[in-house]
Amino acid sequence: MKKNIVEIFSKVFDYEEGIRVFFSPGRVNLIGEHTDYNGGHVFPCALSFGTYGAIALRNDNIIRMYSENFIDKGIISFNIDDLKNKEAHDWANYPKGVIKILRQHGYDIKQGFDMVVFGNIPNGAGLSSSASIELLMAVMMNDINKFNIDRIELVKYSQEAENSFIGVNCGIMDQFAIGMGKEDSAILLNCNTLEYKYSKVDLKDEVIVIANTNKRRGLADSKYNERRSECEAALKELQKELKVKSLGELTEEEFENNKYLIKDEIKIKRARHAVYENQRTLKAVKALEENDIVIFGKLMNDSHNSLRYDYEVTGKELDTLVELSSNHEGSIGSRMTGAGFGGCNVSIVKKTMVDDFIKTVGEKYKEIIGYDADFYVANIGCGTREI
Ligand code: GLA
Repeated sequence: MKKNIVEIFSKVFDYEEGIRVFFSPGRVNLIGEHTDYNGGHVFPCALSFGTYGAIALRNDNIIRMYSENFIDKGIISFNIDDLKNKEAHDWANYPKGVIKILRQHGYDIKQGFDMVVFGNIPNGAGLSSSASIELLMAVMMNDINKFNIDRIELVKYSQEAENSFIGVNCGIMDQFAIGMGKEDSAILLNCNTLEYKYSKVDLKDEVIVIANTNKRRGLADSKYNERRSECEAALKELQKELKVKSLGELTEEEFENNKYLIKDEIKIKRARHAVYENQRTLKAVKALEENDIVIFGKLMNDSHNSLRYDYEVTGKELDTLVELSSNHEGSIGSRMTGAGFGGCNVSIVKKTMVDDFIKTVGEKYKEIIGYDADFYVANIGCGTREI
């Protein structure tokens, strides 16, 4: 892959001196959905597929970017002092936003560069292709300019770029999983405090299967922000009596005893998901640590149901895929992953039954939905780095 991207670079820009190559993964969240911005826990891991980037410094203040995934956009070029979000710059707004945020935080990026990227994460599938390219840019700038910025700061700057430059009000999970990923481990992250620990995903007889519904999911125009404000409104009502800063601080029991404070049925459902999903995540990590994969799988199924009925972020494609997956005899557990409204599900499947799982679930999905789902057996990889 490194050789391929260097070749593309020299074809596009017609030179090959001084090129450095980096890789930034995609991520899958195993459990803990829509909990990050509610001050709860998440349990994601970095994937072995992601975004490759080749970069070489220039002697002026021009930045040129080219993506092998968006050939029709050609070479996107701009001056380093002209960092505005431009619709015509399309995908390049993500790395551009990171440069802008780094500069706002006082990091003096003065020298222009040429960059080529190529990604093998399906776009819009909810596996964080955007956070992947944000961290790619952040780590490239940090390493090339020898800024020595702490990795968690780079994670926060990348999230800030997504929030303020792209305009998507996401939490910190995606950037954290991608920046901090570790081989064969998932990360239990407390999104309130950013305390985290790695937990080995040492499956012996099972594999992680990611299935893409192929229904595209637009985060910015989806109901993501609506869910955030519903939860914030529910929290405000609870705060009239309770001293809590986020829904993530509540146990199930505390929630049940105080939910009467929330005046509207919809908001009760949203808050119930946030509270129960957070507790479920802690139980799931404990089960995994005790090698109880059956309990882990059951909690995944419960998570999906809560996202379906209480949080209402699934939809026909995801529900069909999850139902077919969990009804297969090789399945240990299955749920949607990421923001929802389309994108992917994640399942734990018995190794010996994977081929039949993919065939049977795939055929039935096509029969019901009318087009194919794509399946990937996932490997957990490391965070963003030079290769
Ligand atoms: C998206 C956001 C994350 C998180 C998930 C839902 O992926 O970028 O911050 O909120 O949705 O868990």
